[in-house]
Amino acid sequence: MSDPLSLAILVSGSGSNLQAIIDAVESGALNADIKVVVSNNHQAYGLVRATRHGIPTWVVNNRDYATREQYDSVLQHYLESVNPDYIVLAGFMRILSPAFINAFKHRIINIHPSLLPDYKGLNTHQRVLDNGEKQHGVSIHLVTSELDAGPIIMQASYPVLPGNSVEELQRTGHQLEHQMYPQVLCWLSDNKLTIDGGQVFYEQSLLEQPIPFNS
Ligand code: GRF
Repeated sequence: MSDPLSLAILVSGSGSNLQAIIDAVESGALNADIKVVVSNNHQAYGLVRATRHGIPTWVVNNRDYATREQYDSVLQHYLESVNPDYIVLAGFMRILSPAFINAFKHRIINIHPSLLPDYKGLNTHQRVLDNGEKQHGVSIHLVTSELDAGPIIMQASYPVLPGNSVEELQRTGHQLEHQMYPQVLCWLSDNKLTIDGGQVFYEQSLLEQPIPFNS
């Protein structure tokens, strides 16, 4: 077996995606080593999840820094010392500065609750409902300095049904997310998916099969 994929996972809140990744590692489905869970929020439940599973945590509160650049530089120095293969954003509610993104070029991955490039930013479910969309979805993408605009790694869609609420879309989206994030990390770990020069390459076998959870 090849070396485990080393990860630093950044969370600000509940961390249900973090939990899905932890579960995939613990079940043996994902060959990865979660080096640390980092948060900007002492109260993030994701920190509790990490601790329960014996994963180190590190918290640095953005409110302790006057500027985004100062905060990101502290985060950068710490993560450089960890030197993970990938930085996985899992509900990390902060925009990262270009200097930080450049320091980990093509090594930062994010999950976003919409079919990018549609509905970048916050409150995607409400905006999808307001616009009467029939389809909604989840995107996993590489992070670049343009918000929610980096190369897409994987997407899955689901129908918006008449009368759906924000909570229902959130629940359906989360169910997909919890399959997709571990899956993408498995593909990276198995070299079925490679990222080179900011481009995403898929092993032929992945291109031949429909993505199983694209409803
Ligand atoms: C997810 O919906 C993800 O798409 C977005 O933030 C949310 C995080 O949820 N980026 P959780 O903390 O993993 O439960």
